[in-house]
Amino acid sequence: MSREIGFAVVGLGMGRHHCKAIQAAPGARLVAVCDLDEERLRPTAQEYGCRAYATVEELLGDDQVEVVNIATPSGTHAAIGSRFAAAGKHLIVEKPADILAGRIEELLAAVSKHGVKAAGIFQSRLDPLNIRIRHCIQQGRLGSLIGAHGHLPWYRAQSYYEGRHGSWKGTWDLDGGGSLMNQGVHTVDLLQWLVGPVAAVMGGFGVFGHRIEAEDQTVALLRFANGALGTLYTTTCCYPGFNQRLTLYGTRGTIIKEEGSLHSWKMQDDPEGREEQELLALYGAGRKASGAADPMAVGFDGHTQIVVDMIGAILEGRQPLITLESARHAVEIINAIYLAGRTGREVRVGEQLAPAPTAQKPAAQKAKAKAKTKTKPKAKGAQKTGKSRPAPKQKKTASRPAAKAKKPAAKKAKRR
Ligand SMILES: NC(=O)c1ccc[n+]([C@@H]2O[C@H](COP(=O)([O-])OP(=O)(O)OC[C@H]3O[C@@H](n4cnc5c(N)ncnc54)[C@H](O)[C@@H]3O)[C@@H](O)[C@H]2O)c1
Repeated sequence: MSREIGFAVVGLGMGRHHCKAIQAAPGARLVAVCDLDEERLRPTAQEYGCRAYATVEELLGDDQVEVVNIATPSGTHAAIGSRFAAAGKHLIVEKPADILAGRIEELLAAVSKHGVKAAGIFQSRLDPLNIRIRHCIQQGRLGSLIGAHGHLPWYRAQSYYEGRHGSWKGTWDLDGGGSLMNQGVHTVDLLQWLVGPVAAVMGGFGVFGHRIEAEDQTVALLRFANGALGTLYTTTCCYPGFNQRLTLYGTRGTIIKEEGSLHSWKMQDDPEGREEQELLALYGAGRKASGAADPMAVGFDGHTQIVVDMIGAILEGRQPLITLESARHAVEIINAIYLAGRTGREVRVGEQLAPAPTAQKPAAQKAKAKAKTKTKPKAKGAQKTGKSRPAPKQKKTASRPAAKAKKPAAKKAKRR
């Protein structure tokens, strides 16, 4: 008989979904929760009848905890994760794995050094419809992919960015950006998981509808390593919030999906549309909870599967389905888009890794940097755009290049 695995959750916003997921997962036991905020910590510990720790330090020494789910602000994941890895705990790390690819590398190094398992959270990869789409692409049924487009016109009220648990959102230091890094990272990961690595990007971003530091609207052009061209749109400004839309065009077919549901499945090898009818019956409209307007409306099924998978990985001595390593490319793509927006040029993915950390800068220094950029043009309609921000310091790290695009993607596309 297989043994029960002890879990703990750190960070009890989204972390409360993790608690539910652990409770629902056979073979898992929620041993402890941890949060700096007593008002979240005590009621959650009471609800699940588990231990409560006010700090990571206290939780580190709990021997009954084998796996720690990290759901703290995104820019803290690698630092917190590395500490638990050093204490011999396996990790499930919320998206994004961290806000910089270099930090994810550091976490991966700690995971490897201490021989623990680490999974990322991209629950969309476990969705049966997305798995079906991926198989279809891999079988070549779409022909050569020519276009891959992700659209995320979501809405968040100003209050989402305020208060004790809101003020880190939409900041460079802790959120690593805004609508693209926080909300859009699932769409970016899904595109790269379905279509393949992104070689280069162009983009623009700005603050259009909120009082935040980073951005609440981003538009990007993606050059995939396989030659496909893509577009990406993310925002938290579109009242009242509309569904995510994904469109994949190939030379032999088209797939369109909206949020969790299939919209169109048109294949040249299915001219009568029998397969489409079957799939629409299975995955058609009205299938899923959407985060378009409500950040907490994500289903926790995916999280339960990730918990179950981690138990399997530990007991069977294998890697988790969603490795932390595979969660890095989305962060590389996003930071390349931010750099493209700041510099107004095409950026190779992996060429740079960091948005400029601003929070540590003294106020006078910040004001000086702001004054320096005043001569740069602002995009029309934007209160504050990516181009108006100072370019970040280029910090080279050990990160491997994301896409092995030997020839420029544009050349490849032309050859078709
Ligand atoms: N997978 C998804 O669909 C999904 C959805 C929402 C959020 N998230 C991710 O979950 C993470 C948390 O987001 P959120 O919206 O819940 O934020 P939140 O601010 O509501 O919750 C974070 C919690 O972490 C606690 N915390 C911060 N630092 C801590 C520390 N050092 N030790 C212990 N506790 C600490 C805070 O007190 C807070 O309660 C983010 O990385 C976010 O991207 C994922």
